Amino acid sequence: MLIVSLSSVSRQAFIQSQTRCLHATRLAKHSKAFVTTPIYYVNAVPHIGHLYSTVLADTIRRNYALHGKEVIMSTGTDEHGLKIQQAAKKNNMQPIEFCDKVSESFRKLCTAANIEYTSFQRTTSPTHKKAVKELWNTLLKNGYLYKGKHEGWYAVSDEAFYAPNQVKEVTDEKTGEKTMVAIESGQKVEWMSEENYKFRLSLFGDKLVEWIDSHPTAIVPHNRRNEVLSWIKAGLADLSVSRLRSRLDWGIEVPNDPEHTIYVWLDALTNYLTATGYPWHGEHSSPNKEAFPPDVQIVGKDIVRFHAIYWPAFLMAADLPLPKQILAHAHWTMGKQKMSKSRGNVVDPFEVLDTYGVDPVRYYLVRDGGLADDGDYSEKMIKTRYKKDLAGQLGNLLNRTTAKSLLPSGVVPGNSLNTATVHPNDQMLHDQIRAVPENFNKAFEEREFNKAYAFIFDMLSQANKHFTENEPWKMTQNIEDKERLDTILFYSLEACRVAGILLQPIMPTKMESLLNQLGVPKDERYFKDSLSLKVGKDITVNKTEADILFPRLK
Ligand code: MSP
Repeated sequence: MLIVSLSSVSRQAFIQSQTRCLHATRLAKHSKAFVTTPIYYVNAVPHIGHLYSTVLADTIRRNYALHGKEVIMSTGTDEHGLKIQQAAKKNNMQPIEFCDKVSESFRKLCTAANIEYTSFQRTTSPTHKKAVKELWNTLLKNGYLYKGKHEGWYAVSDEAFYAPNQVKEVTDEKTGEKTMVAIESGQKVEWMSEENYKFRLSLFGDKLVEWIDSHPTAIVPHNRRNEVLSWIKAGLADLSVSRLRSRLDWGIEVPNDPEHTIYVWLDALTNYLTATGYPWHGEHSSPNKEAFPPDVQIVGKDIVRFHAIYWPAFLMAADLPLPKQILAHAHWTMGKQKMSKSRGNVVDPFEVLDTYGVDPVRYYLVRDGGLADDGDYSEKMIKTRYKKDLAGQLGNLLNRTTAKSLLPSGVVPGNSLNTATVHPNDQMLHDQIRAVPENFNKAFEEREFNKAYAFIFDMLSQANKHFTENEPWKMTQNIEDKERLDTILFYSLEACRVAGILLQPIMPTKMESLLNQLGVPKDERYFKDSLSLKVGKDITVNKTEADILFPRLK
């Protein structure tokens, strides 16, 4: 049996690895962007909260692509642990059969929501197991694992350990039964006492604070960052990272010690490495090595501790570079209450996508989802967004501008705009169209999604107002009005084009159709193309795509 302690040899290794890990953090430079979602537990089918994490990640991924950046995105399913083992048993299935089935439903959700992931990780796959064992061996080699007695509270639902001051006793109102629960999650905890492997998390407090302090956007939004700092400052205890196999056998065996199973969170977090081909032996087997560390890791507020403390600590201990950003979102509630199966208020994402369409749902989730604070899920709001923003502003502007009565030839000439002197009626819209890409981009980078999209829809609202006030429909009869008519149409079409480019990441299918209707070539649909007005080139509206972009909701 392997008993590991900080012997003089491992102490030496420890010091060396500390130096290397800071170095690795500094060297973290790469050309491919990497966005991740959490991997989802397969103990239950997908719900709207899962869809939210995934859509946010896909929108961010596509936004990198909008800037011409090569980008990979990982998602997947978290399949080991007691929780899954128990769920499989309840369903009278073998764990792997059960995992196959539920994992498939998460994959289907990605397809249904037009999520273009580049890697779907399953923790039961052989490549992942290999990565976890490699990471384990590295932690061991670097002197960060030791065997010790572990006693404490464990919540199976959270797959997490809690200190005595993190639990409390509650009494069931109906039965009078007393149970212990975790204060943070409200989940039931049970007392656990066994000898297992521990990770020297206690050594990483200062390093974590240093990382967070020197990278102000490493954990966003601010409230989460502060929360993490306060957890660290309260003191970090060593973390139990294995369970006796006799208690938990649905998991990855500790290398060279088959009596132990690796803790499900150490297993699960490694998926972000597996997704890049770790262990990166051999140049050709790991084309995505350079993408590590991730640029943005989307997580929900309930799993911030694992991603902002355990994960960077594991990486430092393994001499690996740290993620650039942990983006933690709050939760969707229903009638201001936590969504839960027992309350029967869980929203089925497939149904919602089916009812309102993929792009409108994506738009609603990203625009109205709560980053810092919980957002209350409301189908009324999906309809309002659809009617007011999508059909009412964007769809309306496109329809009225491309109407045959105004544009019988389908062409707005490239010289429609007198760039030397902007007509006073156009000045406001002109300035707004010019300003919107940078404003949008800045807010997006600052992860202020609602604000970012508000810039676009304010501009569209201004464009509709401009159209109405200038009454182009009165200008179709007299030839001397033609120049002014073209200019007005030019501005309306430019507002649509710029909005269409910037909205591609959030509504890829609808915006493709819009840009096709406007005859925008495929290689002119990047962020840089939204920065300037399309002066000097004819705009040829493509009438073959005559579909109404946002038809009336049934
Ligand atoms: N398996 C872990 C993650 C491991 S990542 C290495 C897990 N899985 S989960 O299925 O329980 O949750 C996955 C994600 O869904 C989390 O980011 C969680 O915050 C998110 N959501 C769960 N319920 C949610 C809402 N009601 N609203 C928004 N997101 C929610 O945790």
